[in-house]
Amino acid sequence: MDSATLPRHGRGVRMLHGINALVVLILLVTGLALGGLLPGRAVALLGGHLGTDAAHRLLGLAFAVALVVLVATLPRRAGRLLRDVVRFRHGDWRWPLRFLAFYGARRGGRAPFHDGRFDPAQRIVFMGLVLAVAAVAASGVYLYFWTPAFPLGQASLAFAIRVHVAAAWLLIACLCLHVIAGSGLPWTHRGLVAAMFGNGRVPAVLAHTLWPGWASRMVADTRQRPSIDRDHRDA
Ligand code: HEM
Repeated sequence: MDSATLPRHGRGVRMLHGINALVVLILLVTGLALGGLLPGRAVALLGGHLGTDAAHRLLGLAFAVALVVLVATLPRRAGRLLRDVVRFRHGDWRWPLRFLAFYGARRGGRAPFHDGRFDPAQRIVFMGLVLAVAAVAASGVYLYFWTPAFPLGQASLAFAIRVHVAAAWLLIACLCLHVIAGSGLPWTHRGLVAAMFGNGRVPAVLAHTLWPGWASRMVADTRQRPSIDRDHRDA
């Protein structure tokens, strides 16, 4: 029974997520290099300051354009992701503290209930991620096309740089939390990594712990329509 799994993410989402993770990682490393926060040897390895600058600007622009194209071509999927992230039900705000108590009890008791596809703590981190990505991409595009002739000239340049750097730090902070949880380091999250970097399935025990309402719906749906499981569509 413990080896039972539930389908969580389809192949398309997993591929997109993998490409996105790689691109964001490259942008963060090149951005830190440009900010003088990496040792000179690392910057030389990346192609020197000029090479790193060109790579960061071009990849950043491509990332921002791809984001807009994705949202424009898949508005329903993007809307559903956003809805699942921002929708908080009564009692969801108390979930993180209750979950911490459950976590500390180490397998004693029952994980607190919530009804969402993502748990409330995960939703808060995703809100930070979405906000940070939007701000870093918008300010990056502005900086890419900025010329001294732009309205407000130097003042707008300084403001855009400040937004870009602050949003990048927010992104790094949220990503650290996301990667710690996503790689399955906490005992409650063991096996979660396969949802994005494996076969797209998660252990049923994990699903009932992290997303109890979603897991119960999935079990009922899979029983009624086994094709959900067979096709391995997105849950
Ligand atoms: C390389 C490090 C990363 C790891 C190990 C990782 C891990 C995961 C895992 C395991 C999930 C599935 C969570 C679930 O099913 O509830 C997930 C979902 C997600 N990740 Fe990541 N992730 C990484 C990088 C990123 C980056 C760089 C971003 C964005 C900037 C990101 C944004 C997301 C989003 C938005 C979802 C939800 C996708 C959906 O359900 O449609 N991840 N990640």
